[in-house]
Amino acid sequence: MSYPWQKPGLTPDQQAAAVVAAMTTDEKFAWLSGPMAIPLTKDDKLPPEAIGSAAYYPAIPRLGIPALQQSDASLGVSALGGVRPGDHATALPSSLALGASFDPQLAEASGELLGREAFSKGFNVQLAGGANLIREPRGGRNFEYISEDPLLTGIIAGHSVRGIQSQHVVSTVKHFAVNAQETGRVLADSRLNESALRESDLLAFELAIEIGEPGAVMPGYNLINGHWASENAFLLSQVLKGDWRYPGWVMSDWGATHSATKAALAGLDVQSGANLDQQVWFDRPLREAVDRGEIKATKIDEMIRRILRSLFACGAIQHPAQRGRPIDYSWHQLIAQREAEQGIVLLKNDRNTLPLAPELSRILVVGAHADQGVLAGGGSSAVTPQGSLQFEGVDFMGIQTPKVYHPSSPLAAIRHNSLAKRVDFVSGESLDEALTAAEGSDAVIVFAEEWRSEALDAQGLSLDAHQNQLITRLSAVHSTVIVVLQTGGAVTLPWLESVPALLEAWYPGSGGGEAIAGVLFGRVNPAGRLPITFPADDQQLPHPTQKDPNTTTSLPGVEITGEVFEIDYNVEGADVGYRWFARQQHKPLFPFGFGLSYTQFRYENLQLSQTYGKISASVTLTNSGERSGSEVVQIYLRPVSGRYPSRLVAFKKVTLDAGESQRIDLGIEPRVIAQWDCTQQHWSITGEEVEIYQASDASSVGLTATVTLAAQSFGYPRH
Ligand code: BGC
Repeated sequence: MSYPWQKPGLTPDQQAAAVVAAMTTDEKFAWLSGPMAIPLTKDDKLPPEAIGSAAYYPAIPRLGIPALQQSDASLGVSALGGVRPGDHATALPSSLALGASFDPQLAEASGELLGREAFSKGFNVQLAGGANLIREPRGGRNFEYISEDPLLTGIIAGHSVRGIQSQHVVSTVKHFAVNAQETGRVLADSRLNESALRESDLLAFELAIEIGEPGAVMPGYNLINGHWASENAFLLSQVLKGDWRYPGWVMSDWGATHSATKAALAGLDVQSGANLDQQVWFDRPLREAVDRGEIKATKIDEMIRRILRSLFACGAIQHPAQRGRPIDYSWHQLIAQREAEQGIVLLKNDRNTLPLAPELSRILVVGAHADQGVLAGGGSSAVTPQGSLQFEGVDFMGIQTPKVYHPSSPLAAIRHNSLAKRVDFVSGESLDEALTAAEGSDAVIVFAEEWRSEALDAQGLSLDAHQNQLITRLSAVHSTVIVVLQTGGAVTLPWLESVPALLEAWYPGSGGGEAIAGVLFGRVNPAGRLPITFPADDQQLPHPTQKDPNTTTSLPGVEITGEVFEIDYNVEGADVGYRWFARQQHKPLFPFGFGLSYTQFRYENLQLSQTYGKISASVTLTNSGERSGSEVVQIYLRPVSGRYPSRLVAFKKVTLDAGESQRIDLGIEPRVIAQWDCTQQHWSITGEEVEIYQASDASSVGLTATVTLAAQSFGYPRH
């Protein structure tokens, strides 16, 4: 038997149109809203076909259309609330680690892994692609996002999405847009003028969408300039579906829909997690809106066509997901380990403390359950492989989500990598025990942690007082205290001067322990670079104070008691992260782009060319040290007039053997150096003199060349 969409030679749009034409009204509405496919009470029953995940929409067997089975998220196939007991999955390192790799190929490989696992578990939609710009350094979900820079975020998120979709699994990008904090996330109104919005947060999404062609976009919980993201006509209709000609579907976040007519007309196609909303808007109220003539029946068809079009475009209908297909977890763990290795950032290495010599005779490992595993971020993205250590976490959308340590023990890996006679472990809970154990050790490796979760912002940038005290006290009595951070973002480090070596390992995932040990002992030459600025203190931030999370309801599915409140992101505008620090002339603790290596790199002969307004840079890079290693070539631009602070305009990760040289060519994306002209509704590059320079981070300047930009403007085809 063949289905209408199987006629040879049809494009995804034509295939989708053929299916829509054959669907009944009820079949259509069954796909326009759905509850969370996780029972929230013991009376909630899942349909027998639902695998158990974020969402399920029924199959249409007579048309050869499989059910939509949607799973979270960017860091692995999660099973929120233990919905699939005993389920195992590979936990990828946090997206910050991927950002720190500055490596699009790695992003694609980790996306492929995610897509393969999702496909083999029966899922055809992965709620991945976290592409929010890290505007609020204390944001609870920063570990799910990539960086504070639109170019880096867009490229890495885009490649990750491309990897997922190569496995016939649709990926989202989320949470569109300016969804920068968790505190009061359903009430926070992000205020940002259009130019700044287009040049920062939207640019990250725009690039990610161009590169990855995600099948779906998920608006955030928040409001943007007075309208909830899920019913924001400017964002969804004018920019996404209009200017960017986005052909896929827009699905709301779970419990983030607030209306039927307004939302549908603004461009929302599906109400997800409808049981968490005040009501199911996209069924009866939407049908009634059609009956009243507020919404055309063809609009309903368009909403469905967009879903089907995306499914066809990535082959999710032609190659239905195969639940139960074997997964090679050992291979996947190695991929996760490699990603963690590429994302670890060496922040300090005085006296060449690292790599550690294998022949040290006594090592002490302290803290953060390093004898058991590595920390993971919490919330809907949390993957809980078998053997994870779990503690009480947060109550989130009525579901308990634990604080999880992935079963990849740094202690075991350190023992494995070292020839030391003794590698001891203490929990660090008792200062006295740790100080006593440190006596006679050749090196003390302290694991410091900071747990973040969806629905829970960090309050301030500090580690907890006990850990700060532990490190201060240990470094007062021992000269070789090495600190390994596992954090969900930037933290302050009051003891920095007194420790010789420091690593940022983020949340490093299923191969995290091995990856950390690999860097400590030199099997891996660290190459990660900070994708976010580490501020010296909260006072340097555009918004030094935070809203008290206890005064605002932050969860859907819970009665919203607070009032909508504004966050004025016009304070920093498009100057997010390092650009803000440059504008204010603040000296950060560690700048964006910073990271050390066990080798050295030399740059020579920076040259620029400008053809038809498109600028390229080239530079010769030499590994002038004694071991092979990777460098992230970073190119920044700043106007000679100082009119705006410098911007990262190109980057490339390059691996060279000791002594090897390579000429590196980098193209510069025009939108990154343009300003958005609101009146004309186009991008505009001012014909002015700029410095284009190579730098090892956002606070330094290396080889520099000056060029006068060709004045130009460019926009979008009018719709
Ligand atoms: C999160 C989304 C997630 C969804 C489904 C929401 O709370 O914000 O990122 O995809 O839940 O679990």
